[in-house]
Amino acid sequence: MSQTYITLNNGTKIPQFGMGVYMVPAGDATKNACMYALKMGYRHIDTAHAYQNERSVGEAVRESGIPREEIWVTSKLWPSEYGEGKTMEGIDKMLERLDIGYIDLLLLHQQVGDYMGAWKDLEKAVEQGKVKTIGLSNFESERLEEICEAATVKPAVLQVECHPYFQQNELKKRLAPYGTVIEAWYPIGHGDADLINEPVFTELAEKYGKTNVQIILRWHIQEGTIIFPKSTNPQHIKDNFDIFDFELTGEEMERIRAVDKSVRFFTVPLEQQETQFTAWAPED
Ligand SMILES: NC(=O)c1ccc[n+]([C@@H]2O[C@H](COP(=O)([O-])OP(=O)(O)OC[C@H]3O[C@@H](n4cnc5c(N)ncnc54)[C@H](OP(=O)(O)O)[C@@H]3O)[C@@H](O)[C@H]2O)c1
Repeated sequence: MSQTYITLNNGTKIPQFGMGVYMVPAGDATKNACMYALKMGYRHIDTAHAYQNERSVGEAVRESGIPREEIWVTSKLWPSEYGEGKTMEGIDKMLERLDIGYIDLLLLHQQVGDYMGAWKDLEKAVEQGKVKTIGLSNFESERLEEICEAATVKPAVLQVECHPYFQQNELKKRLAPYGTVIEAWYPIGHGDADLINEPVFTELAEKYGKTNVQIILRWHIQEGTIIFPKSTNPQHIKDNFDIFDFELTGEEMERIRAVDKSVRFFTVPLEQQETQFTAWAPED
């Protein structure tokens, strides 16, 4: 079995598995983690302007020796760059920071600010070939439907918190009319020990000769979710990708679905998002 791909609503195939670089410092930490992941066979990296490490991701992609078209790079625009015209300037700056020719997937990072104006520029950037695919992140209020209904190009993905404790089943139903797929952030609960050590994962890890984290990641893959666990630990980077040689049974998938607690690890009320997320701008 080899790594899997998902066909998005624009016909593009995205590697279902990748690596995220949230909270990884710019420079060697990000570059080395990405280079190592690419060497291990990863073909998908998830970054954001807000992570302030896009330049290091771009360096890793360029120096990997892997043809550009084989690597999928996602980035995200912060609300400080939302607005018709302003967003296009933000995209051009992002292209300069990444320096990899084009962006595979560009998301609006947060559901505040002039997101409607920003979406128009994202659609234009697709027409101009600067960006291949566009989507949303953290749009879980009614603003999700507002943008999906108005959009000419429907969002291909919605990136949200999603893991066995918070499985996002209602959101999946809301996305179905638009053919939008869920990308999971915090796929292993940001490393939460209680989640990772759930007895069902320990039992299945023993059965398959895998780690608990590998069982969780495999569950996401079989659920059809796109994942990019973060790691800067070479052993974890290697192990996390080693999940394509076994398959959980239907009954095991059900047992993991039963672990859902409908509890998020991270939440900010919408009113607070409005002030908090628009008051800050990434430096570079
Ligand atoms: N759109 C958004 O608003 C948003 C928000 C949050 C995250 N994200 C994206 O989602 C990605 C993943 O989320 P995340 O990084 O916050 O959390 P995560 O991937 O769920 O968890 C990362 C944590 O788990 C640890 N870990 C990784 N592999 C492990 C393994 N095999 N065994 C034990 N521990 C392991 C990592 O430590 P080590 O480094 O030591 O391995 C790190 O502490 C981010 O990097 C980012 O790209 C997006």
